[in-house]
Amino acid sequence: MSSSQTKRPLQSLKSRALNGDIRVPGDKSISHRSLMFGGLAIGETKITGLLEGEDVLATAEAMRKLGATVTRDEDGTWHVTGVGVGALREPDSVIDMGNAGTGIRLMAGIVATHPITTFFTGDASLCKRPMGRVADPLAEFGAQFITRERGRPPMAVIGTDEAKPVTYTLPMASAQVKSAVLLAGLNTAGTTTVIEPKPSRDHTERMLRHFGVDVDVSINDDGGRTVSLTGPVEMKAADIVVPTDPSSAAFPLVAALINPESKVTIRDVCLNPLRTGLITTLIEMGGDITIANEREEAGETIGDLVVSGKNRLTGIVVPAERAPSMIDEYPVLAVAAAYAQGETRMCGLEELRVKESDRLAAVAAGLAANKVIHRIEGDDLIVTGGEVPGGGMVETHLDHRIAMSFLVLGLGANDPVAVDDANPIATSFPSFEALMRELGANLAPAGS
Ligand code: S3P
Repeated sequence: MSSSQTKRPLQSLKSRALNGDIRVPGDKSISHRSLMFGGLAIGETKITGLLEGEDVLATAEAMRKLGATVTRDEDGTWHVTGVGVGALREPDSVIDMGNAGTGIRLMAGIVATHPITTFFTGDASLCKRPMGRVADPLAEFGAQFITRERGRPPMAVIGTDEAKPVTYTLPMASAQVKSAVLLAGLNTAGTTTVIEPKPSRDHTERMLRHFGVDVDVSINDDGGRTVSLTGPVEMKAADIVVPTDPSSAAFPLVAALINPESKVTIRDVCLNPLRTGLITTLIEMGGDITIANEREEAGETIGDLVVSGKNRLTGIVVPAERAPSMIDEYPVLAVAAAYAQGETRMCGLEELRVKESDRLAAVAAGLAANKVIHRIEGDDLIVTGGEVPGGGMVETHLDHRIAMSFLVLGLGANDPVAVDDANPIATSFPSFEALMRELGANLAPAGS
């Protein structure tokens, strides 16, 4: 989204029960990687179910600028003809990654070990996010980075053609940083290793294998993982069927749980065990969620979520160890907690401060605006549930998940809940409003 676009305020009002059978769009993490890996492989990769959100479209454009051929059929099938690892072309203009942290960080890893210079920028939100977390390990390969102060984009990456392999222990749980290092390793002679103290989503590892790369993963004594690959590799084109995004399914899921009469089925959701922390948590809170038609597709577990609102949720303590498996879901979990009986403590949320917005601050401000009792203690967020007064206007700070979460809050609140800008929703879930309305959600334009 262009940050100069006019804001579009939207509100949600107390709604009747949600009912229906829906399919949310493709997984954002897998969609980005499909285009990137297709662009690095030899041959043509066919992608079905790609998320056509703004973040992913920015990655498609980035891969085109680097030399890949990326096209879309009328039926929504995408085709990527790759250039081969080591053969990316230097882009002749600045690459705009929009709102996408995953896009810019993974792309930085890819170009770091190609002998080209690449300039990246993004929207006002992306230009506030720290790139030092990828620039530091990628500099160890020999790449050079120029950023604004405190590692903020715009960012130039001067890649190296004499990359030295790196062994890197992640200082934080981050699939983006892990992936950036592994992707730099693809065009580096020797073995690149990432040690992650807390396991994060492993789509890069699974998908690289799908493209013919040998990726070694072992479980460490402390439960962390060691991931390594030996380059330079040759990647072979491989078709991808993108499963639907559990982080998008989270919104209708919580919306259904907060209304006792609701019954909703959400189809074909990616149930990768490193992504299902929210489902585990909501079930622990008493939520009636069952998984139907569980199956394996293209290396991922897929299933249908069958949700009923008949059980009132109860507050629990959500352990910090679970954070990586539900890192994008805390804003909407805070909404579920606002309707739960008693107190929900969400522990270890420090990474939320560096997402599309400072999500800890944005969630707290949104809860305050709608008179939900809550407090922050260190990196923990504690929400006391009950009746939700609502009536507030929430600042979204160009953050799609803040916008969608608070629109869900309004569906059960006494007074409408408004968000100042619904435009960012298009980065990850362009059909959000249509699907929520189809289920029975009352969404309406709001005054600014
Ligand atoms: C992602 C990793 C996570 C997540 C983001 C997508 C990925 O970020 O928040 O939405 O696709 O690798 P971090 O790795 O920074 O936690």
